Amino acid sequence: MKKAFILLVTMALAFVLAACGDSSESGTIGISMPTQSSERWIADGNNMVEQFEELGYETNLQYAEDVIENQIDQIENMITRGVDALVIAAIDGEALTEVLDLAASMDIPVIAYDRLIRGSEHVSYYATFDNFQVGVLKGEYIEKSLGLAEGNGPFNIELFAGSPDDNNAYFFFDGSMSVLQPYIDNGQLVVQSGQTDFQQIATLRWDGSAAQERMDNLLSGFYTDKTLDAVLSPYDGISIGIISSLKGVGYGSADLPMPVVTGQDAERPSIVSIIAGEQTQTIFKDTRELAAKAVDMVDSILKGEEAEVNDTETYDNGVKVVPSYLLAPTSVDITNYKEVLVGSGYYDESDFEE
Ligand code: GAL
Repeated sequence: MKKAFILLVTMALAFVLAACGDSSESGTIGISMPTQSSERWIADGNNMVEQFEELGYETNLQYAEDVIENQIDQIENMITRGVDALVIAAIDGEALTEVLDLAASMDIPVIAYDRLIRGSEHVSYYATFDNFQVGVLKGEYIEKSLGLAEGNGPFNIELFAGSPDDNNAYFFFDGSMSVLQPYIDNGQLVVQSGQTDFQQIATLRWDGSAAQERMDNLLSGFYTDKTLDAVLSPYDGISIGIISSLKGVGYGSADLPMPVVTGQDAERPSIVSIIAGEQTQTIFKDTRELAAKAVDMVDSILKGEEAEVNDTETYDNGVKVVPSYLLAPTSVDITNYKEVLVGSGYYDESDFEE
């Protein structure tokens, strides 16, 4: 009798909690983003909220400010509050196995957003861009700018990679090196520092100031009597750090022009930098399109349907190959930024006025 009463009270409490928690008719979606320190993730989060709400979902959007434990706590909290699905851009792609087990025990499906979540079978789908192609576009940009295919050189280049706990970083680097390695091998490109291994050139948490510090050291260690012609940078925040360092020793003048500096994400400060003739290139990945893919994946799962994917081979997370949708990235520089970024309505021209 007493047990039955306790059970009843527990059930009633659960009902009340569910009613107070995250619930709406269509459902509530937990969106876990890595950081607000980069504009792109703010756009990603806002785009998803907007698009989920258009379909009648409620959302719970959280940013973990690049602290792994925050992200795990936030996801746990979303699970406790009874979200119906989770969309996660992981800070550390290897750190979410346990919390995803918890989600699975509550039948909450998980979409990996932009970054692959590794080491878990509980990842339903992966929405991202063709990350290898992102790297290829950077490599090809350097190849074209320096006239490498025409046999020009030798040129000095330094290499930067992204965060070693982000699966994407390896894809970007491999894509770039698929273009650049032959020119390093034949001597048209020279890495004066000799630092060409991923682990030597990686930048934990994609941190621009860490990249700036590494560039300072490279310049003082290897370029006091040599000129740098190109820098492979995987991400705009890193490019901005690299450019500050270069300016610090006089690059960006008539005597010492800026090297070719690549980037990624088409973040506003980098477009301003491209207009000012400092950063050379970036890669635009339309966060509106990426959000739309993730929203479609969640909506399909919750309706008991299969989501549209276009890649079922590339993204092995160590436990399974995660069915993915890869969007196409676009190379952007001074010649096409207006057409690509303003023309598509992603930015207003006035966004670039300082
Ligand atoms: C990667 C992402 C890049 C860039 C980087 C740093 O995972 O694919 O576009 O945003 O993180 O935030």
